[in-house]
Amino acid sequence: RSTAASPGRPKIVVCTDLGPALPLLSERRDIEVITWTENRCCDRTWMLHNIAGAAGVVVCFQNAVDRELVDAAGPNLRVVSTVSVGHEHIDLKVMAEHNIQVGYTPDILTDAVADSAVMLTLMASRRAGQSYTFVKDNQWPTFHWTPFALCGPQLSTTTFSPTRTAGFLGFGRIAHAVLKRLAAFGITHCIYTPRPGAAPQPTRDEKLRAAHSLVSVAPVDLPTLARESDMLFVLAPGGPSTRHLVDEGFLQLMRPTSVLVNNGRGSVVDSAALARALKEGWIWGAGLDVVEEEPQVGPEHPLVSEPRCVVLPHIGSAALETRTEMASLTARNVLAGVLKQPLPVALDY
Ligand code: DGY
Repeated sequence: RSTAASPGRPKIVVCTDLGPALPLLSERRDIEVITWTENRCCDRTWMLHNIAGAAGVVVCFQNAVDRELVDAAGPNLRVVSTVSVGHEHIDLKVMAEHNIQVGYTPDILTDAVADSAVMLTLMASRRAGQSYTFVKDNQWPTFHWTPFALCGPQLSTTTFSPTRTAGFLGFGRIAHAVLKRLAAFGITHCIYTPRPGAAPQPTRDEKLRAAHSLVSVAPVDLPTLARESDMLFVLAPGGPSTRHLVDEGFLQLMRPTSVLVNNGRGSVVDSAALARALKEGWIWGAGLDVVEEEPQVGPEHPLVSEPRCVVLPHIGSAALETRTEMASLTARNVLAGVLKQPLPVALDY
């Protein structure tokens, strides 16, 4: 059937599952809603076909919003609404050229992602992935318990191990939420690399230090971040400016007892270099929610086959409450855009 919008009714194309938030759009009579209904990532050909004449489109981070898509939409397209805080799948230059607004979902997912960063830290340091596989593989019955079997570095500080440094590559909202959680484990020092060109923020840092009873919170350069972090959190956005910031040189500077956790974007970490770092013991372990090659990450992937690497399929924000809120905000963003109202949360680009 024709994909052109009905006269007078703006068309919204929903390319991902909005769950309980879909009725916010589908039950309205003043808009036409076309929805991808399969329980998998939307086909590109489906998107290109159905977007013709659309005023708004709902996407997730796996759907590229580029010139080809905008050309296929035609001049009615006013708003792109993504169910994500990340937006490197959207070509902002093309958005600006066509005066298209972008809605996204910051803040809402901060706590869920911070929770998962702590989970990955514990899993990677205490070898939870390896231990779980051990039981699933029926190795427990023949396991000879010894004091150092399946041991790993402790996350919390103790009187006999009184300092811990958390390092952050990317020190925004999610990093602050991770720091808040780590304070409960007695972390003593926080270091981070500021965004290039960003002004120093000593007052903010002192507030964070005092709020979490830390010894220090301080900006450092990349080599210092690598050298001094007991746990390193990669929370930087993706894109060309952050690609492979964690490379072989960086990993070689890290401590053999350190863990690396990536909840940001896979492209920030060089997968091959990380696999080598794990194999050769430059670092202790890694917890990854995102991987450069995702979603093409099977059992043969060099990181999946590393015993001290825990790999999760990009589920950092996958808490029911959070995803429900994200879907609702995404629906409200696209609706506002097509109705020519201010977006509840617009990306300022
Ligand atoms: C985001 O929001 O950018 C996440 O990566 C997906 O929830």
